[in-house]
Amino acid sequence: MQSFETSQRIVVTGGAGFIGKHFISYLLDQKHEVINIDKLTYASDKKSYASFYDYSNYGFIHEDITSLETLPECDLLINFAAESHVDNSIRSSRHFMTTNALGVQNLLELTRGFEQSLRPRFIQISTDEVYGDNIEGPHTEESLLRPSNLYAASKAAADHIVQSYARTYGIDYQILRLNNNYGVRQYPEKLIPRSIARLLENRKAQIHGDGSALRCWLHVKDAVQAIVTVVLQGNANEIYNISGNDELNVNDVVSKIAARMDLNVEDCVEYVNDRPGQDTRYDVDDSKMRKLNWAPEISFDDGLDEIVKKTIETPHW
Ligand SMILES: NC(=O)c1ccc[n+]([C@@H]2O[C@H](COP(=O)([O-])OP(=O)(O)OC[C@H]3O[C@@H](n4cnc5c(N)ncnc54)[C@H](O)[C@@H]3O)[C@@H](O)[C@H]2O)c1
Repeated sequence: MQSFETSQRIVVTGGAGFIGKHFISYLLDQKHEVINIDKLTYASDKKSYASFYDYSNYGFIHEDITSLETLPECDLLINFAAESHVDNSIRSSRHFMTTNALGVQNLLELTRGFEQSLRPRFIQISTDEVYGDNIEGPHTEESLLRPSNLYAASKAAADHIVQSYARTYGIDYQILRLNNNYGVRQYPEKLIPRSIARLLENRKAQIHGDGSALRCWLHVKDAVQAIVTVVLQGNANEIYNISGNDELNVNDVVSKIAARMDLNVEDCVEYVNDRPGQDTRYDVDDSKMRKLNWAPEISFDDGLDEIVKKTIETPHW
């Protein structure tokens, strides 16, 4: 397992959320000094982040990235903070634009405020959704961004803002575009935890449209290792696609969950209206990332086994 130098000071934004907390757990175990800046929205995991206080190398700032006025001195700033649920962005997109685009602009402005030698590298955690539907074969990092929903549009805006700060002001950045992440203790609005929660309550799992939308699944622990790999070995001012190995449609995911809960999938699923703007498939080419000798290690079946087992043991968020 790779690691940063322990002398590096790391600021993580949105570290009380799903991917951020797994990333912070990894850093704390590696004895890094970490400062987490998080607004603690509904999506933050109050239980997990509270356990970080057991570590003397952890600090927390309860703040909104859009109104943050001072950035602690650091070597790396890794931005996970975002409104991240597509359905919410369809209902109302304002918070998405504010946090995901203007919040990033504010963090970049604070980064720019340091004299050149003290500026941290800016790591932006982005998504495969910025490319939109897969139309012309796999998307490389050079492909056009054609976001289909408001969440994806706000993340695409952020990617452009980061790149223009680099070009205009010489900010040093890396952008990582990740596939769908899954793993233990994800907020139960996302497909896997929501389906398990509903089935545990003897309700039907809901599937948008006909369930044929394909997604590539990346375990959050593999995502953490991918981020470490890019920071350590990737080039400055570049974008990296990061893909899991397992592509499954929504029907297959829910069937696998039902099977692990000893349920007959035909009896426990209901089909609901498809999301407006639903993408049928994201297919990203992450060969650039694979050249850094990173590959996902956790198979979807193994990852799902653990999630179902742990959610049954501790069903309440
Ligand atoms: N989960 C995925 O499948 C996935 C896939 C690709 C990319 N991403 C990206 O990775 C990042 C992390 O995703 P996640 O699933 O952990 O998200 P999440 O919704 O679980 O957590 C987001 C965190 O950001 C915090 N936050 C939100 N608005 C904030 C603000 N204005 N100021 C400070 N903190 C704020 C929340 O309190 C929460 O702790 C996001 O940028 C997301 O776009 C996620």
